[in-house]
Amino acid sequence: MKKVLKILHILSLFVPFVVGENLNETAGGTVSFPHSVKKEGVLKYENETIGQIIDGQSQTNLSEHFAGRLLWNSSTGYFSITDLKPEDSGEYRVHTNGSSSSYNLTVSGEFSMTDINRTAGGTVSFPHSVKKEGVLKYENETIGRVTDGQSQTNLSEQFAGRLLWNSSTGCFRITALKPEDSGEYRVHSHGTSRVYTLTVSVAISKPTTKAYRYGNGTCIALCYTKDWNHRLRWVRMSDNQTMAQLYNPSEKPWLGLLLNGEDKDRYKCVVERYGVEKFTIIQKKTFCNTPVSKPKIEFSGCHLRCSVENGTDVTLSLFLGNKMFVYITDPSTPLTLSVIVEKRGIFRCEAKNHVSNETLSIKVDAICSGNYHLKKSFLVVFTLLSLSTVLF
Ligand SMILES: *[C@@H]1O[C@H](CO)[C@@H](O)[C@H](O)[C@H]1NC(C)=O
Ligand SMILES: *[C@@H]1O[C@H](CO)[C@@H](O)[C@H](O)[C@H]1NC(C)=O
Ligand SMILES: *[C@@H]1O[C@H](CO)[C@@H](O)[C@H](O)[C@H]1NC(C)=O
Ligand SMILES: *[C@@H]1O[C@H](CO)[C@@H](O)[C@H](O)[C@H]1NC(C)=O
Ligand SMILES: *[C@@H]1O[C@H](CO)[C@@H](O)[C@H](O)[C@H]1NC(C)=O
Ligand SMILES: *[C@@H]1O[C@H](CO)[C@@H](O)[C@H](O)[C@H]1NC(C)=O
Ligand SMILES: *[C@@H]1O[C@H](CO)[C@@H](O)[C@H](O)[C@H]1NC(C)=O
Ligand SMILES: *[C@@H]1O[C@H](CO)[C@@H](O)[C@H](O)[C@H]1NC(C)=O
Ligand SMILES: *[C@@H]1O[C@H](CO)[C@@H](O)[C@H](O)[C@H]1NC(C)=O
Ligand SMILES: *[C@@H]1O[C@H](CO)[C@@H](O)[C@H](O)[C@H]1NC(C)=O
Ligand SMILES: *[C@@H]1O[C@H](CO)[C@@H](O)[C@H](O)[C@H]1NC(C)=O
Ligand SMILES: *[C@@H]1O[C@H](CO)[C@@H](O)[C@H](O)[C@H]1NC(C)=O
Repeated sequence: MKKVLKILHILSLFVPFVVGENLNETAGGTVSFPHSVKKEGVLKYENETIGQIIDGQSQTNLSEHFAGRLLWNSSTGYFSITDLKPEDSGEYRVHTNGSSSSYNLTVSGEFSMTDINRTAGGTVSFPHSVKKEGVLKYENETIGRVTDGQSQTNLSEQFAGRLLWNSSTGCFRITALKPEDSGEYRVHSHGTSRVYTLTVSVAISKPTTKAYRYGNGTCIALCYTKDWNHRLRWVRMSDNQTMAQLYNPSEKPWLGLLLNGEDKDRYKCVVERYGVEKFTIIQKKTFCNTPVSKPKIEFSGCHLRCSVENGTDVTLSLFLGNKMFVYITDPSTPLTLSVIVEKRGIFRCEAKNHVSNETLSIKVDAICSGNYHLKKSFLVVFTLLSLSTVLF
């Protein structure tokens, strides 16, 4: 051993070396010194021996600075340094029996930093192409590697089945993105590298709700969201009980909740995606009943007509002063009440349901003359058959 080292020392002193080949690399990349060392040789950085080969056996852990990053390939005989840092720049010499080479390595910082924003579930493609040799790193971990045009994309559990390499474009691609994939990615290829800062956000919108009413007072609350890969559920707010739920309802997008009778509970429809939630709260009374719209009132000849366009379970009433003299009620609108007026005064039409009420008044000065008796027989005319009661 001592003898060998002595020989090498003498060689390094007296064998003239080939001067300075420039090697340019970017931080994070790998450099290979193409001077083959098969049985005996050393690699020096500045004046320090950082690697040596003795009788075909390598020692590559001589320097703390290059710990774990200096490799020797026994088949090619080349030393290489991975995960380069700018401070690795400098002069390297490879000495073997008979010859020496000098390399002037320049490690530049990453010269390109690109922000990429994606939403969860989406795909990202890193445009820096790797054709034959290169790596994709996430934070400090190598998650993809291309060696001699062959890819390895199953190096990391986090990206299992989601990392792809396209051999024709040379681009790495990650599919089905998750928020935790956010971070720094580096693509090293052919001595160049690019850094991409990926931000994966969760796009999630408030669920949409819709009421579907049956005539018997039952109402189905439907909840819907256009986002994919989510969980949808109806929760009763008084006890947090989940009433119904669906996972990834891309095929059956509506989640229904049956609301019966005088249900006063509040319910929330919750959409959850990658741990992020958005919800909409409903209560039967206001959700299943639409408020009444302002009634319209018309007086012509002997007829007073009162009508309402919108609202569920509307009761439409007509008052003279404070006295109600006719009303109708119907689950659906539009609804019209038509009467023959025999008295002067202020008539008030009121549309009312569980949710709201609206009124409108009209002053009647001139009452019906002429064919009064004929018209009296049509005293109350309902445009809808679903009449309830007539009061005087
Ligand atoms: C190596 O590169 C540096 C900076 O580019 C330069 O100053 C130096 O002279 C070079 N050395 C050799 C041996 O080429
Ligand atoms: C490396 O960089 C130096 C100066 O920065 C330049 O003169 C030289 O041509 C470059 N070499 C290669 C192989 O790109
Ligand atoms: C390398 O050694 C030479 C002579 O032994 C010395 O002049 C030089 O300063 C040394 N360089 C470094 C970087 O230590
Ligand atoms: C280098 O590695 C060898 C075994 O692989 C070990 O015996 C030796 O202590 C290591 N040297 C340093 C400086 O870490
Ligand atoms: C050594 O280099 C050869 C030729 O490039 C390659 O096939 C082999 O995988 C390398 N070995 C290691 C351990 O990197
Ligand atoms: C060194 O090289 C010479 C010829 O160039 C060869 O005869 C000798 O065996 C070599 N020694 C070693 C240790 O490789
Ligand atoms: C990505 O989002 C960040 C903040 O959310 C923003 O500053 C940046 O401009 C966005 N980049 C692109 C390319 O949209
Ligand atoms: C990545 O490496 C840098 C320095 O090389 C270190 O400061 C950082 O903590 C490492 N990050 C992770 C996630 O390992
Ligand atoms: C109302 O009708 C629907 C559909 O026919 C039925 O499912 C529901 O049980 C009924 N509700 C009541 C209170 O009768
Ligand atoms: C329901 O859950 C929310 C949040 O998890 C909590 O703040 C609330 O107290 C719970 N209510 C009941 C009745 O358990
Ligand atoms: C009734 O509802 C429809 C649809 O929501 C609306 O366009 C219309 O203006 C409403 N009518 C009245 C009188 O409010
Ligand atoms: C009509 O609605 C108002 C609130 O908009 C409420 O104060 C009033 O009591 C209601 N009237 C009737 C008769 O329901």
